[in-house]
Amino acid sequence: MCGIIGFIGNDALAKILDGLELLEYRGYDSAGLAVRKEDETDTQIYKCQGRVSDLRKIIPNSDASFSCGIGHTRWATHGGVSDVNAHPHKSGKVTIVHNGIIENYALLKEEYELSDKLVSETDTEVVAALLNKFYDGNPKEAIKRTVKKLQGTFALVIMFDDIPNTIFAVRNVNPIVVAHGEGHAILASDPAAIYEYSKEYFVLDENVILTLEPSAYTVEDFDGNQVPVEFTKVDWDVTSTGKQGYPFYMAKEIDEQPSCIRRILSNYLINNDIDFGFNGELDKALKKYNRICIVACGTALHAGMVGAQLFKKWCGITAEVEMASEFIYSDTVLDENTLFIAVSQSGETIDTLEALNRAKEAGALCLAILNVRGSSMSRVADMSLYTDAGPEIAVASTKAYTTQLLMFYMIALKAGFLKGKISEDYLESAIKNLKQIPNAMAKVIEKKDDIHRLSKEVITCPDLFMVGRGLDYLVLMEGALKLKEISYIHSEAYAAGELKHGPIALISEGTPVIAAVTQTNLISKAISNVKEIKARGANVVLLAKNELKEDFSDEYHVIGLPDLEDVYMAFPEIVALQIYSYFVSADKGLDVDKPRNLAKVVTVE
Ligand code: G6P
Repeated sequence: MCGIIGFIGNDALAKILDGLELLEYRGYDSAGLAVRKEDETDTQIYKCQGRVSDLRKIIPNSDASFSCGIGHTRWATHGGVSDVNAHPHKSGKVTIVHNGIIENYALLKEEYELSDKLVSETDTEVVAALLNKFYDGNPKEAIKRTVKKLQGTFALVIMFDDIPNTIFAVRNVNPIVVAHGEGHAILASDPAAIYEYSKEYFVLDENVILTLEPSAYTVEDFDGNQVPVEFTKVDWDVTSTGKQGYPFYMAKEIDEQPSCIRRILSNYLINNDIDFGFNGELDKALKKYNRICIVACGTALHAGMVGAQLFKKWCGITAEVEMASEFIYSDTVLDENTLFIAVSQSGETIDTLEALNRAKEAGALCLAILNVRGSSMSRVADMSLYTDAGPEIAVASTKAYTTQLLMFYMIALKAGFLKGKISEDYLESAIKNLKQIPNAMAKVIEKKDDIHRLSKEVITCPDLFMVGRGLDYLVLMEGALKLKEISYIHSEAYAAGELKHGPIALISEGTPVIAAVTQTNLISKAISNVKEIKARGANVVLLAKNELKEDFSDEYHVIGLPDLEDVYMAFPEIVALQIYSYFVSADKGLDVDKPRNLAKVVTVE
C-alpha cells in the first residue's frame, strides 16, 4: 500500500510524476511530491486528494530544472483522505514520504510534545517532526535515533533542506528497491517504477540507512558499517510495459495470459518432465512431505485452493489452505514435517509475509510462488518459483492467477509422480494437456465479443450468483471476486450442492446466475441444481464445454469453452469470467484498473 519514489537526476519533477503513475496501483486516494533544485535549499511541495492526474493539474509548470525529489501515492490509514493528510510531510528541514503504519505515533507525539508542530492527522507527520527534532546537521544520526523510537512497519524516504541532491531511506518490513544509472538514481516501493531506468535493482535491507546521490550510493547499518547489496536482474521484456493501445491494463493482461502460460511451460517442461531446478532439492521435498500448508490472500488464495484440490487428486494427500490474515492468529501446527507454500504475486502482502516468517521459524520447509523477483517473500522462503508473468498493473489480478494455477498443476503432478501415485504415462499425457492450455485460453479470448454481449445484461443488477461443483466452484470463487471488485456488483460463488441449505433463498425472478458445468462426473448433479434455481426465476448463463453447448443452448445462454480434459478446464473457464467482469466494469464506465478502496499491494495488516 502507498507507492513511494525518490529520484535524483535531470528533470526530476517529470520523472517523479511518471513514476508515481506506475506506482499508483498501490494506493490512489491522494498523491504528492517534493522537489528541489541543485544547490538550492528551497523544497517545493505539491500534494492533493485524488489521483496523480489531479496532482499534475496543481503543478504550475513543467519546470525541468529540478534535480531531486520524492513522491507518494496514498492509501489512507491514519487520517482521512484530504489534501493536508497527503504526503510528503514537512517539519522544519525535514521532508518525508512514508509507506506503512507507525503504531506508537500517538505516544511519540505526547512524549516529545510534537502536537503544536503538526497540521495533519497522520502518523507520518509525527515521524517528520521527530526527525526534525533530532536533526542537528547529522542526517544519519537523526534517522537512527528516530527509527529506534518507532514501532510498526515503515519505508521512509527523506530529504533534508540543507543537504542538496541527496535522498535518505530506511525501512522495516515495507519494501524499497533501488537502482542506479548514468547520472541518475532512483528508489521506489516496487520495481514497476524503475524498469524504465535499469534492468537491475537491489532491495534495501531492513534497518540500514541508504544514502542516495546522483553518482553514488551507500548502505550502512546503524553502527556505521557498510552493508553489501545484491542486485536482482529483471528478466522480463521491459518494453512490454504500458497499455499498448488497450483502454485498460486489465484488458491487456487478460490477453497476455496464453503467452505467459507458454513462457512458464517452456521454462519448466524439459524432455517430457517437469524440472524445477534447485538441483533436485524441491523434488526431494515433494517426494517426502505429506503435510502441505498453503497460505495466501485474495486471488492468490483462490489459486491455492485449486492447488490443494490437485494435491488430493494427484498425490492422495490433504493440503490445508488458509487465508494469511487468519493463519497468523490461528493455532495451525507447523513443524519440520510441513511443506509450507506461500503464494503471492507481489511477494509483499504483509499477512502472507508474516505467515511465511512464522512457518520458517517453526522449521517448516518454505516454498514461495511469486511473480516479483527480489520481493520480501523471496528473501525469506527456502525456495521460490517465479511465475514471471511480467508486471501486473491492474489491481484485479488475472495473469498472476493463471500462472500461479499453472505452478500448482506442475507441482502437484510432479509430487504425484515422485510419490508413485501417478505413472510415467500419466505424467506424459498430463504434460501434453498442459501444452494445450494456452491455445484453449486464446480461443476464449477470440470469443470475447460473445461474452461481452451476455455481460451487458447484468450491468444494472445489484447481485449476481455463481454456482458450480468441484473445481468449477473453486474457479467461480475467483470469478465472483473479479466481478465484485471491479464492477461493485455483489457477487458470490456457491457450491451448487449447498444451495438448498440457504443461498437459494436469495434467488427470485430475474436474479442473474452464472453456472459452470465443466466437470463431466458432476454434470448431472450440477444441472439438477441449475434447474432448481431456474425454476425459481433465475436468469442463468451456463459455462460449459463446447462439446455440450448444443445440448444446453435451448434452455440457457451458454458460453462455450474449449474441450480440455476436465481438470484443465479451470484455465479457459477463468478467462471467460475475467472477460465477463472486465466488460461489466468498463460498460458501467468505471475505472477498471483502479477499483475504489482497493490497492494492488497490501502492506498493512
Ligand atoms: C490485493 C490485490 C489482489 C491480490 C491480493 C494478494 O488484495 O488487490 O489482486 O490477489 O492483494 O496479493 P499478492 O500480491 O500477495 O498476490
